[in-house]
Amino acid sequence: MTSKIAVIGFGNIAKAIITPLFDKKLLNPKDVYCLVNTKKSLENIRKNYKYDINIFQANSKGSAIIWDCKVKLLSVKPQQLKNIIELEKNKNNLLVSILAGVSLEKLIKKFPNHKCVRVVTNIPITIGKGLTGISWGDEITEDQKQFIKRLFENSSRIYEFPEDLLDIFLSVTSSGPAIIALIIEALSDGGLSGGLQKKLSEELVTEMILGTVSLIKETNLTTAELKNMVTSPGGTTISALRVLENRSLRSALIEAVVSASNRSKEFH
Ligand SMILES: NC(=O)c1ccc[n+]([C@@H]2O[C@H](COP(=O)([O-])OP(=O)(O)OC[C@H]3O[C@@H](n4cnc5c(N)ncnc54)[C@H](OP(=O)(O)O)[C@@H]3O)[C@@H](O)[C@H]2O)c1
Repeated sequence: MTSKIAVIGFGNIAKAIITPLFDKKLLNPKDVYCLVNTKKSLENIRKNYKYDINIFQANSKGSAIIWDCKVKLLSVKPQQLKNIIELEKNKNNLLVSILAGVSLEKLIKKFPNHKCVRVVTNIPITIGKGLTGISWGDEITEDQKQFIKRLFENSSRIYEFPEDLLDIFLSVTSSGPAIIALIIEALSDGGLSGGLQKKLSEELVTEMILGTVSLIKETNLTTAELKNMVTSPGGTTISALRVLENRSLRSALIEAVVSASNRSKEFH
């Protein structure tokens, strides 16, 4: 990847996207220009980050150089967006935003001299197992699309969507980890109630979920087939499922996903 890249907000998610590209030598740290807000972060990255990148504090001397890069990865928090002021000379340059809930329309208003791309990714990207949804703005060339996809494909699996599906993608993939964490917590508490130590109960639940997901993926079983396999007449599992159906767990999960998507739309 030969283009110079600017990273506006070199925080957790930006590091998760960029570091594997350095690790695999697909990107040279000397070609990456990063901005952070505070002196503390600047010094921390200079001292502790394993690669020698060009790093600047926002609005400091020399920091305007980031606007010369052909591609900018915008990765500040949504509430910090108001502090970013576009300085742009070349209308062919790209701005790729990973800000949750910030629409292409809002990005284009804020960065009128860029071609904008809206990306949604999720927290497992920090271990290279992310899911990334991309919505292309207008006039992005095929070469530019390939370049952007290469940025994300080392840390995540990529899906391309029309923008109106990005909110539901975000809801399923970005709120999903919190929903799964809650389910793990609740099932572990079930084990605890039955007398298991908390740590052991959590370990059993986590391994059970990993094993179940692997089984589904490796055997191509449908969820209905798997459910039928472990549910015998008059047995323990149907007794558990009956409680969950009675308490509307299925409907609660559907409503949770729809609600997160609606909330995301409110941020546009
Ligand atoms: N966390 C998630 O689960 C997740 C998942 C997917 C996508 N996202 C999206 O990813 C984005 C980044 O999230 P994150 O978790 O990586 O946040 P983060 O770790 O807080 O990183 C934000 C970065 O932006 C910098 N920054 C703040 N104001 C700035 C300014 N005016 N100019 C330049 N840099 C500035 C911060 O610098 P300082 O450290 O100096 O303040 C920090 O380096 C968010 O918009 C979020 O919606 C997050």
